[in-house]
This record gives sequence, structure tokens and C-alpha cells, in this order.
Amino acid sequence: MRSHYCGQLNETLVDQQVTLCGWVHRRRDHGGVIFLDMRDRDGIAQVVVDPDTAEAFATADRARNEFVLRIQGRVRLRPEGTQNPNMPTGMIEVLAKDVEVLNTAATPPFQLDEHGKVGEEVRLKHRYIDLRRPEMIDKLRLRSRITHRVRAFLEDEGFLDIETPILTRATPEGARDYLVPSRTHAGSFFALPQSPQLFKQLLMVSGFDRYYQIAKCFRDEDLRADRQPEFTQIDLEASFVEEDDIMGIAESMIRSLFREVLDVELPEFPRMPYAEAMSRYGSDKPDLRIPLELVDVDDLMKNVDFKVFSGPANAEDGRVAALKVSGGAKLTRKEIDDYTKFVGIYGAKGLAWIKVNERAKGLEGLQSPIVKFMEDVIEELLDRTGAEDGDIIFFGADKARIVNEALGALRVKLGEDLELYTQEWAPLWVVDFPMFEDDGSARLQALHHPFTAPSCDVETLRTNPAVALSRAYDMVLNGTELGGGSIRIHDQAMQRAVLEVLGIDQAEADEKFGFLLEALKFGAPPHGGLAFGLDRLVMLMSGARTIREVIAFPKTQSAACLLTDAPGDVSQEQLKELSIRLRHKAKAEHTDE
Ligand code: AMO
Ligand code: AMP
Repeated sequence: MRSHYCGQLNETLVDQQVTLCGWVHRRRDHGGVIFLDMRDRDGIAQVVVDPDTAEAFATADRARNEFVLRIQGRVRLRPEGTQNPNMPTGMIEVLAKDVEVLNTAATPPFQLDEHGKVGEEVRLKHRYIDLRRPEMIDKLRLRSRITHRVRAFLEDEGFLDIETPILTRATPEGARDYLVPSRTHAGSFFALPQSPQLFKQLLMVSGFDRYYQIAKCFRDEDLRADRQPEFTQIDLEASFVEEDDIMGIAESMIRSLFREVLDVELPEFPRMPYAEAMSRYGSDKPDLRIPLELVDVDDLMKNVDFKVFSGPANAEDGRVAALKVSGGAKLTRKEIDDYTKFVGIYGAKGLAWIKVNERAKGLEGLQSPIVKFMEDVIEELLDRTGAEDGDIIFFGADKARIVNEALGALRVKLGEDLELYTQEWAPLWVVDFPMFEDDGSARLQALHHPFTAPSCDVETLRTNPAVALSRAYDMVLNGTELGGGSIRIHDQAMQRAVLEVLGIDQAEADEKFGFLLEALKFGAPPHGGLAFGLDRLVMLMSGARTIREVIAFPKTQSAACLLTDAPGDVSQEQLKELSIRLRHKAKAEHTDE
């Protein structure tokens, strides 16, 4: 139906006849001449309809925003003075000869260039209209280019694209499962995969050697800006590899993506042990664009006359840390109060601070609610944090977990608020994760998943699991965990030992993943892999603030789809077929069904 996309038109086509198909982006009536900005996937072109062409003019006169038109006409240079250098097609216009209405459109719930005036809810409910916006098209186009490059890269590296089931059993990645009732096995349920983890390991046992998949994953967990219940991984696994092999492949893939898609040469990827990341940045995904670091001051605070500090300084699981912000003495009382509220979200009970107005003046040159308690250690404190005139030092004192979360988040917020970024892209690998974490519940939890190999032998793991490190690695970019993986356990005895430490007894292990344990018996090669969050990758590469912006049809914070109204009700017949009776009927209208 068309000869060109609107966005493809330029000066080289002057005097050529073209046929465009698209939507009326804007219609302007300029006293006798009608201008139609015609929009399609590739951009916007200006069409001029002259009263000389009476039929075309009458049709254009009837057209409204978002009508679907087919236009035939001649490309010509715009008259001097009416050119628009900000538009790719701004030098030319199309003089219409024929205008055909392919379809009319009701008044849309929002005008595309006024999308900011309506809430995200309205945009999600009418997502097909929201997706007409050039910015949204650009993001999804970028996503497509990224997946295309990823496939090309991995195919070149010898990875085979193999699909794994969506209707499956639970895959433990730490979230709740989405369950699907089985009709043919009454009372039994499939789980949607939280990741293809178990299947990709089985593919290694089969000898496929190198697998990849751009795979949908499903996790019922609390949603945030970078989390969706249904998301996509670039998942890969390889055999006869060690950490450096997988990290090397993953790093070159990301590097080549940035080079080819964004024309960006990423800097070095430093490797940082987990313990160092927590100590210096209070986070296992530090944003290294921000030049602020947490400094331990426990030793200085052990004997100060301020319980809030001396308590955690002397407690085994406590931490007292300082965060110096250069030039921060200019923060107002109100700003400090707001930051105090902010750290409260992470459980901090307060946010002590010292402003260094004039260090040469000793105590008098400092301003602070707490300095009176620590006169003896103040010089050393200022030296250690490297504080200079005009700086502020913030403090966190509590259980280490709370201090890390609170000051870690404060560090990121200060970086954003005070625009402290020193570089555009800061990638790194975080390595040497602990095998297990103590989340306060009765048993230890796997920090990654239970198939991650420890760096120690079975004996050592059993004797002191709490200090065992794993062979896992995470790739972090600008403070976002982009991907993670590990070398896996390929030995059945080690796999059993890890499950035991996790408090999963043999019967439970056999019930849950007996098929994997069984497979490990039949010649499982050493193997390892990694998965990137594709949505997060596209979010970072496109500069979007949430992954919802780079997913065509995302879900809301409460895991619902406003467009289709899913999850939705099902009929009594369907429930009966599935042998399901609801305990609570969600809506009264169903009670008499
Ligand atoms: P992990 O659970 O770390 O590892 O997931 C890998 C990557 O997937 C992305 N991701 C998400 N993205 C959007 N929404 C979510 N809810 C979400 N959850 C995770 C993150 C994360 O880094 N099977 C292992 C990988 C392996 O060991 O090979 C796994 O799934 O970017
Ligand atoms: P207070 O003596 O409770 O008024 O606290 C004095 C200062 O210490 C205030 O600036 C509080 O915000 C701060 N503060 C209180 N508890 C903590 C804590 N756990 N960590 C860091 N600072 C705190």
C-alpha cells in the first residue's frame, strides 16, 4: 500500500511521487491550506493539501487526529523560512494529490504529545496508543536491535538457542511461584519457571556444551522500578568452563552491544569481592559513578559517651560507618531532615552528622549534634574520612545490615541529588559472594540458588557453612544488577551437602529436584553460566527510568495488566474442570453461580 515510511523522506526524493500510510499526528488548517503531520513507525512527515485538489482537500478536511490515511503525492522542498532543522524530514513536505481515509479514529484518551498530563494508569490501560509515541517506538526498536545483536554474538560463539518448558516444576530462585492448575492431574499444579536454571543444567548433562535462550521468567515477588512479575532473561550456560570463561564471554557480549548499538566503549570491569562492596558502598551492586565511600569508624566509637554509637561499635553484628560528602556543609537543616527521613525507610533510627566549617579552628569550626560526645577521637575521625572545610560527614550506627542498606541508599541518593557522577558508565563484577545468608529465619538461605558451587570442599562446607564463599559472579552497571551466574555443582555429594545446609532433607530434595540430582549421577560435566536481565539492560541502554518503559505490555506494581484486566475471573465450569473450589469468592456476583 505504501512506497515509503514517513520518516524515510528526505531531499533526495524531491519531485518523486510517494505513497504514505499512517496516522494523523496533527492537523492544521492554515486559511485554505491543510497541513497534515503524518506519522508512522519511522517518523513524521508534513503533508500539504491544497484546495486545488478538491477531493483530497475535502477528505483532509474531515480527517482528525489518529485517523488512518493513505496519501499519494509529490515530495518537494519546503519553502524558504518554513524548514524545520529539528525534524529529520524537516527540509521537505509532500504535496498531496490523493487522500484516502483507511480508517477513522475516536478521540484518543490522551493526545500523544500530552501523555505527561495523564497518569501511567491511563497510559497502561490504552497501551496501544501509548506505544504510538515516538519515544516508546524508539525504546522497543532499541530492544529489538539488542536482542538481534545478542543472538548474533552468541551464535557466533557457538551457543545453541534451545527452548525450555514454561509449564514446569518450581525452580528455586528465591521468589514465589506462579502456579497453573492441571486439568488432567486433578489437584496438581505446574509452576511457571522463575528461570530456566534446572533445564539449562540438564542440557549440559546432555552434552550440548553451549546453550542460550532469550527466556521469559516468572516471579511472584514485590515489584519495583526494575522488577516485573514476568520478565526476560538472556540466559546462557556452557560446559568445561571456569569463572573466567563465562565472565569473559558475558563481558565481551555487553561490550560489543554497547559498541555496536550505542557507539560507547565501556571502561574496564573491575572485580570486587562482595565483602569489599558491602564495606565500601553498603551494597552488593555499588554505583561506581558516585565517588562517595563508607568508612568504618567502629574502633573510634567503642568508648564514646554516646550509646547510639558505642552500642553497635561493640556489638558483633553492629557497624558504625561514616559517609563524607565533599561540599556537603551547604546542606540546609531541612535537607538533612529529609535525608534523615529517607534513611528511616531502611530502618535507620537517625542520621547523625558533622559539618566541617573550618577545620583549623578545632571543635569550634565544627557544627554537629553529636560532636560533644566524641571530642577525644574527632581529629582521627576527620583524618580518616579525609574531611576538609565545607564537607559534611553523615553517620550510621546500628546492625551492620541496617547501616549498609541505609547509608548505601543515601550514597546513591546524594549522588543523584548533588549530581556527583564522575563518569557515564561504571560496570563491575562482584565476586566471592557468601554461599548462604542468614535472614533471621531458622535456616540459612542460598544467596544465589542452591546449585551454585562453593569455593571450598564438602568437608569445609559442612563444618562452617556461614563463612563459605561461592563461585558466583554478578555484573553490575551503574548500580543495577544486570546479570548474575555461577559455576554449578556437578557432583551429587556436594549438591546433597548444600541442600542439607539449607535444611532441605533428602526426601524434600528428591521430591523437589530429584530429577536434577539423578542427572548429576550420569556423567555431568563441570559447567557454569549466567543470566542477564534483558529488560534492565534495555532500560539502562535507553536511559529509561523503569523497566515498564521498555516492555511493550508491562504489569502494574500490583502485578495486574490494566489493558486486558488480567488476572481475571474464570467460570465455574472451568474451575470445576480443574477440581478447584474457591475459599473466598472475590466478588459477590459469583456467589450464586
Ligand atoms: P538471577 O535470579 O540473579 O539469576 O536473575 C538474573 C537476572 O535477571 C534479572 N531479574 C529480573 N528482571 C526483572 N524483573 C525481575 N523480577 C527480575 N528478577 C531477576 C536481573 C538478574 O540479574 N538462573 C540464575 C542465573 C544463573 O545462575 O545462570 C538466575 O535467574 O537482571
Ligand atoms: P539523639 O541524641 O537521639 O537526638 O541523636 C543525636 C543525633 O544522632 C541525631 O542527629 C540523630 O539523627 C542521630 N542518630 C540517632 N540514632 C542514630 C543511628 N542509629 N545512627 C546514626 N545516627 C543516629
